[in-house]
Amino acid sequence: MAGRIPQQFIDDLLNRVDIVEVIDSRVPLKKKGKEYTACCPFHSEKTPSFTVSQGKQFYHCFGCKANGSAIGFLMEYEHLSFPEAIEELARSQGVDVPYEGGQHPDPAVKKAQTDLYDLMQQTDQYYQQQLRQHPDSQTAVSYLKERGLSGEIAKDFGIGFAPDGWDNLLKALGNTPEREKALVTAGMLIKKDNGKCYDRFRDRIMFPIRDRRGRCIAFGGRILPKDQPNTDKEGAKYLNSPETPLFHKGRELYGLYEARQALRDIPRLMVVEGYMDVAALAQFDVRYAVATLGTATTADHLQRLFQLTSEIIFCFDGDRAGRDAAWRALQVCLPEMRDGRETRFMFLPDGEDPDSYIRKIGKEAFEAEVKQSQTFSEYLFKQLTDEADISGIGGRAKLVETARPMLSQMPEGIYRKLMFEQLEKLGRVDLSLPKPESGRFKPSRKQGKKTATSMTPVRKAITLLLNQPGIAQHWLQSETSNSDELAKLDLPGMDLLLEVLEILRIHPDLSTSALIERWRETPSGNHLAKLASEQPELDDSAALEIEFIAVMNALKKQSVDLRYDDLQAKLDHGTLNEAEMAEYKMLLQQIYVVKSASKPD
Ligand code: UTP
Ligand code: MN
Repeated sequence: MAGRIPQQFIDDLLNRVDIVEVIDSRVPLKKKGKEYTACCPFHSEKTPSFTVSQGKQFYHCFGCKANGSAIGFLMEYEHLSFPEAIEELARSQGVDVPYEGGQHPDPAVKKAQTDLYDLMQQTDQYYQQQLRQHPDSQTAVSYLKERGLSGEIAKDFGIGFAPDGWDNLLKALGNTPEREKALVTAGMLIKKDNGKCYDRFRDRIMFPIRDRRGRCIAFGGRILPKDQPNTDKEGAKYLNSPETPLFHKGRELYGLYEARQALRDIPRLMVVEGYMDVAALAQFDVRYAVATLGTATTADHLQRLFQLTSEIIFCFDGDRAGRDAAWRALQVCLPEMRDGRETRFMFLPDGEDPDSYIRKIGKEAFEAEVKQSQTFSEYLFKQLTDEADISGIGGRAKLVETARPMLSQMPEGIYRKLMFEQLEKLGRVDLSLPKPESGRFKPSRKQGKKTATSMTPVRKAITLLLNQPGIAQHWLQSETSNSDELAKLDLPGMDLLLEVLEILRIHPDLSTSALIERWRETPSGNHLAKLASEQPELDDSAALEIEFIAVMNALKKQSVDLRYDDLQAKLDHGTLNEAEMAEYKMLLQQIYVVKSASKPD
């Protein structure tokens, strides 16, 4: 296993790369004032609210709140893991990533990864070639034709053929021990106890599964019809690649890359169950279908889909299993239902799947049904009121009891508010709708306008530091920067402020994004990222520094006052010990100095 990547390397890397370049090469940016903007790649929008700050080396979107460093951007945009994103940035800078723990597994690991992608691509080509050339491929070809798939669609989806036999792929591509091993890792070969390998996919129609960049990462293989009655161990209709370093079922969607290739704007995406459903819909020019890979829809899936469109339709069979699956999908949707997003639920007549149904009724009628399908709110309330008789008090109580915790999972916003209002209407109750929670850093509503006045000093200090981390240095060098006293101030966010300062003491040159990277995937990281997004990058570092020092001095004074009150109380109760007495006298003097100094002459 590869060791950890040293923090110092990550800091240096973030110092070297320019987030504007990293993003601009993938999402073209326009300069606007000090910052760069584009339409957000993570949600669909018409006017740009995606902003990249060169100074902070940080991006964020006012619309969907996505934000982060160059590393975070690559992780989100290219669906890379943290080390993969670092590898990618390092590659762009022509440097190698060191790994902690003695040896540097890096080149080997990196090479192995690239090799895997490479091998999968060759495998993909091999299967497609077999569909065209193999003497036995006729059954497969005529089966596809019989199911109405044109050569063009087969090509768009890269459909291939794995010939019958135990070692076709092994012989074609696994011709060295390294390649054989890599094909096992990629899930294409299976290794027996005796060390010998054999092809996982035999005598099947092959559907390549592609990642966001179009790289083949896995396959689904459909058994040929003549074998269908077979109930031996090979009987499963579809065989899918196992989880591999390249393939994680819960993240990938079959057909998503193809949909993006076929459509410029993606008005909606439809989630169906099967490979053949996706292909058949595409055949009827419904190019926006994707399939989960034999798993239920996950939050990861939804996030990926909502990055590309604002409307998702779930298409299910009308039977019990389909209804259950729909209800489960709705649960997963709840936390994703931000304003501006919509999900719909479409149920097919019994015995139909999207493939058979569109063949029966055609594109137009199919799309008309898509348009008429139940919205999120319609489906949710229909389902709940079917289950509870809301003409009576008991039923209404049940409705409210079930719906309330569900709706509470929705993100704050108008959509959620309207859902709660609908629930109040149906339940005929006043739920005293939950006010937006006053989180630790959220400005209090009572104070009215969202201005700097609604910021606590701690929050203010952190925000200033995030704007220009360099302004901490003078304060850190001054003798008043002893943090022990500040730590005694039991203020929300104080621990975080002190942590930030401690890091800046040791690493004075960190950029905003490098700073925030240290809290990756922690709740504090989210706080920090929000604060960093809040203010545009400011120029005047001298003014920022003065403001920062003023806030810190105010905090400092507060801590002195607090301690003084503490000691005074002890004195009043006669419980002050000797050391505390000395401290008390010292504080008395400090307060006196501060007071007399602030008195006008
Ligand atoms: P279906 O049984 O509905 O298949 O499975 P289908 O897509 O309609 O296939 P055709 O029309 O008979 O060719 C739906 C999905 O469930 C997964 C596959 O992802 C499939 O596309 N599945 C199904 C498996 O993984 N293994 C199986 O044995 C069957
Ligand atoms: Mn089918």
